Amino acid sequence: METRFVTQHLSRRAEDYLEAILNVILEKGYARTTDVAHKLAVSPSSVVEMFRKLDALHLICYRRYEGAVFLPEGREIAEHIKYRHDTLKKFLLIIGVSEKIADADACFMEHELHPDTVRRIHHFIAYTEENPSVCEQIQRFSDAIVR
Ligand code: FE2
Repeated sequence: METRFVTQHLSRRAEDYLEAILNVILEKGYARTTDVAHKLAVSPSSVVEMFRKLDALHLICYRRYEGAVFLPEGREIAEHIKYRHDTLKKFLLIIGVSEKIADADACFMEHELHPDTVRRIHHFIAYTEENPSVCEQIQRFSDAIVR
């Protein structure tokens, strides 16, 4: 997942939209403008503006009054961002960050961290999942040492 070749350099905002479109599609099967606006807490007109840009980049297909469907590269980028988000959020939860902050910070970090950092965090999570005693130690660290 992390070795994906990036063919387009997108703004953080564009990446956030692709991620939101994917999350809405996973929930509802189709990304309507209003659902994406709700997910990102922005106005429907902002969504339409970005949908047009992403359509021009051949990442989505935007149909007025209907919403958006992914084109292959848009879907690939969205899944890549979601993978980074989910990995980073899991890590933050493991070290005791609250759900709400973990979600917000994962959204911030997903755009900036080096791929090798995310890969190592991914392996760290897998290691903790395979070794419950490590999980317990981290839990104790969270509960007792960090206040
Ligand atoms: Fe995110």
